[in-house]
Amino acid sequence: MNYRHAYHAGNGADVLKHVVLLALLDHLNRKDAPYCFIDTHAGRGIYPLGAAETQRAGEFRSGIAKILDGQDAPPAIARYLEVIRGIGVEDNVLVRYPGSPTLALAVMRDQDRAVLAELQHAESTALKSSVYRDRRAQVHERDGHEALLALIPPKEKRGLVLVDPPYEQPDEFERLEQTLSTALTRWPTGIYAVWYPIKHGEAANRFLNRMATTGIRRQLVIELTHERDDLPGGLNGSGLLIINPPYQLEETLAGSLPWLHFRLSQPGRGRHRISWSVPE
Ligand SMILES: C[S@@+](CC[C@H](N)C(=O)[O-])C[C@H]1O[C@@H](n2cnc3c(N)ncnc32)[C@H](O)[C@@H]1O
Repeated sequence: MNYRHAYHAGNGADVLKHVVLLALLDHLNRKDAPYCFIDTHAGRGIYPLGAAETQRAGEFRSGIAKILDGQDAPPAIARYLEVIRGIGVEDNVLVRYPGSPTLALAVMRDQDRAVLAELQHAESTALKSSVYRDRRAQVHERDGHEALLALIPPKEKRGLVLVDPPYEQPDEFERLEQTLSTALTRWPTGIYAVWYPIKHGEAANRFLNRMATTGIRRQLVIELTHERDDLPGGLNGSGLLIINPPYQLEETLAGSLPWLHFRLSQPGRGRHRISWSVPE
């Protein structure tokens, strides 16, 4: 496995994923009862923007760096930027970008718990050292699909699973479909947020169509692209499939996608949507 998230930290796809992640956690925070956050592909937790690979790829420059001023930001974006600045800004400069475990722990309460799975030894070692002081967090160096199925339902009964694989394996979408189908039978009331890339080809649409025929209800699709969907080459955008989204998530995110599209995409290119692929 060659994937290193440091090359991509803070890019447009991370921005979308992390805005939605915080919106979902804030919905869970509305009730006092504890919840469990499960991050199946957690990464290393924090990404110094001065690191050689992050600088070389420079993807954060077309992502977080373009929106950090937050001018006219709708509430869900303003919330995300407040958390990003609290963790990453020193002397008015963004010096590090937080990954999903760090962002989640920043907004979770004392009574909540984070289960973080990361397969690569170097990444999970870095993650352990970044969260070791936090008694709410447990790091598992293991396959995220296996960890998820072994650990649900959590004792808290309510919570969120973030599934954010690197999509390096050709069968990643098929594996996701199997894992999600099994997970939903073991923990039908969990919230599941699955990130996916939108690239040339129909892989993402095929995945959504197959998921829509599984019998799983309440599937919400959130997508933001910066280019034409069918442009050959790299990443044209990304999406999140949210199963069992909290009530009023769409209202919470209202305005965020047009704002991100305007700020992150080339004029006249790309698109955004929030729509149900399987309704209530
Ligand atoms: C896209 S990155 C995760 C980024 C992170 N969720 C965030 O938002 O900051 C994907 C991570 O999955 C890890 N990974 C790859 N295959 C895995 C597997 N089978 N199980 C768990 N982690 C895996 C990679 O090492 C990489 O760190």
